[in-house]
Amino acid sequence: MSPAGVVKAKSSTVAATDRPSLLLEWYDRHRRRLPWRAPPGAPSDPYRVWLSEIMLQQTTVKAVGPYFEKFTARWPDVASLARASLDDVLRLWAGLGYYSRARNLHACAAAVMREHGGVFPDTEEGLRSLPGIGPYTAAAIAAIAFDRRTMPVDGNIERVVSRLFAVEEALPQAKPLIQQLATTLLGDGSAGDSAQALMDLGASICTPKKPACALCPLMEDCAARVQGTQETFPRKAAKKTGALRLGAAFVVRRGEELLVRTRPAKGLLGGMTEVPGSDWVAEQTERAALEQAPALTGVARWHRKAGVVTHVFTHFPLELVVFTAEVPSRTRAPDGMRWVPIATLAEEALPNVMRKVIAHGLDL
Ligand code: ADE
Repeated sequence: MSPAGVVKAKSSTVAATDRPSLLLEWYDRHRRRLPWRAPPGAPSDPYRVWLSEIMLQQTTVKAVGPYFEKFTARWPDVASLARASLDDVLRLWAGLGYYSRARNLHACAAAVMREHGGVFPDTEEGLRSLPGIGPYTAAAIAAIAFDRRTMPVDGNIERVVSRLFAVEEALPQAKPLIQQLATTLLGDGSAGDSAQALMDLGASICTPKKPACALCPLMEDCAARVQGTQETFPRKAAKKTGALRLGAAFVVRRGEELLVRTRPAKGLLGGMTEVPGSDWVAEQTERAALEQAPALTGVARWHRKAGVVTHVFTHFPLELVVFTAEVPSRTRAPDGMRWVPIATLAEEALPNVMRKVIAHGLDL
């Protein structure tokens, strides 16, 4: 501390070129043991790296762990996943969210078998030509599975780099600059290790709130720490969230069975299972939503459950009122719908929003 109480920068004592080796040394000692990571020195399995990277898109390491274990136990390689039915893949994916990833996963496995003889392409360009693999994921797989000299930049890395260099430009505009700065952190060793070192640093030390700077291998060289402004990075442009949408969901019981249908294959939650519902639109009265109830006229008396179910999708928040009804045994399911035993609902490809709706409607 200087006499004026200002933390002195020691950045001149650490040459910028040392950062990559400091990072790799730290990773050697502190890397997280994650189910998709090969033990140090062992070759990575591109299938496991690919599967994990798809699952980790917009999803935390903690949430992904059990799904990764389930998938690899059932489909240990790309050939077995390509042979699986899309329904089975969606069923095992249910609960992980962003379901287009599961459809692309299945399509990608098929493309690897059909177009690449069952072997993943080993370049970013080749990987990007596959379904569900964008620039970030291509770079991550290329670095981790094939040791290509490239730096994938995810949210954790954006935070570490924006603090290390005190990047004043706001996201998302700052992405190219952050990418360029992140690339300077690639060491002479494994590119995959450099990238995963930054990911782990961001997850465990350079956290959004209260970063543990004292434990950071790059502490002395971090511009934001020197200024004491760590938590203010990365700078972010104000986010535009979509307008609230409203709708109704209909939880219909026939004894120990529930009325469900499958959403259209394309679009939001495509191919997933849901209870029947109204449109989800910005302006809608409960009465207008109730008019879209399934055609069970004469057999269903609707009860409006107190409260609402809320869910936040990437592009809009949703608020659903839930109507329940009990119908006599042998009531036929309306066109396009089916009865499923409540006891086997866990086997359906139910997205989280529908799990909430059903729990609310059935008082689970
Ligand atoms: N997030 C995305 N990819 C990851 C990886 N390979 N390790 C840890 N976190 C990640």
